[in-house]
Amino acid sequence: MSAPDPSKIQEFRERLRQEWTDEKTVAAWRKWHAQIAAFTRGATEAILEAAHLSPGMRVLDLACGVGDPALSIAQEVAPSGRVTATDLGPGMMSLAEELARKKGLTNIEFRQANAESLPFADACYDVISCRFGIMFFPDLPKALHECLRVLKPGGRAAFVAWGKLAQPFFTTTAGILLKHLPAPPPPPDPDAPSLFMFGERGRLRRSLETAGFSNVHEEDRIIAGRWSTSVEEYWEQFTEVAAPFRPLLEQLTPEKKTEAKAESLAALNKFWSSKELNIPLEIVIGTGTRP
Ligand SMILES: C[S@@+](CC[C@H](N)C(=O)[O-])C[C@H]1O[C@@H](n2cnc3c(N)ncnc32)[C@H](O)[C@@H]1O
Repeated sequence: MSAPDPSKIQEFRERLRQEWTDEKTVAAWRKWHAQIAAFTRGATEAILEAAHLSPGMRVLDLACGVGDPALSIAQEVAPSGRVTATDLGPGMMSLAEELARKKGLTNIEFRQANAESLPFADACYDVISCRFGIMFFPDLPKALHECLRVLKPGGRAAFVAWGKLAQPFFTTTAGILLKHLPAPPPPPDPDAPSLFMFGERGRLRRSLETAGFSNVHEEDRIIAGRWSTSVEEYWEQFTEVAAPFRPLLEQLTPEKKTEAKAESLAALNKFWSSKELNIPLEIVIGTGTRP
């Protein structure tokens, strides 16, 4: 695993920082966080299982966003264990902090931190968790090196990422949106971080092994993405939350937006049964330990 060219890394970093700290992104996650947490509950369960947690552990959660899975981990390692939840920007984390207070969690702290340069001492965590964050680290070798540095020898890292692009989570919304753009988007830079990059079987395993993790394991899993209100509301959420796709949506004329929405609702309706949307979500789970 080689790092991409430094000038590109800087460009990716700036784009991602902009996307994830944008006030529209933060407002959308605030609005939809409860439904998103329910929709991706299977991914939280997967990472809780993969992390091999026990009470008393010190855990670092990277890219914690609005608190998944950091808040659940804090409950698992309580009362004597502690979680440090980190994210690039303060916006998403401020909601995570509010939710932690509401749940009465006292064993979790929040720190703004880029996963590529962690403000923590060497060998101080038993476990690192990261749910739907690893694909946004522009210099992945650097981020994984930081993970190894702050893990105790024998400590474990557990990552959950999206699986392949050709899955209903993509094809029912973003895939349709792309077809309606006025001009096809330029082919993606193969070095650029992207939502579905770890859908390439073996890529997450190779990244962890090359970084120096031991006991590396990669698993594909399908979890149920449940959304219990309506397909219209699911589409509305997609248009507001999906930071990488929002700029594309803004390129559509009102007519094209209407067409894309109608097509998406038809595609989503195929997954509507028993009064809920149930989309099979393909995820990848990667784990490894510090030698
Ligand atoms: C899709 S959200 C996932 C949040 C949460 N873990 C979850 O599963 O819902 C991606 C998060 O990654 C964070 N992020 C992106 N790049 C990062 C970086 N280099 N270091 C730390 N966090 C980063 C973003 O700010 C955002 O909160």
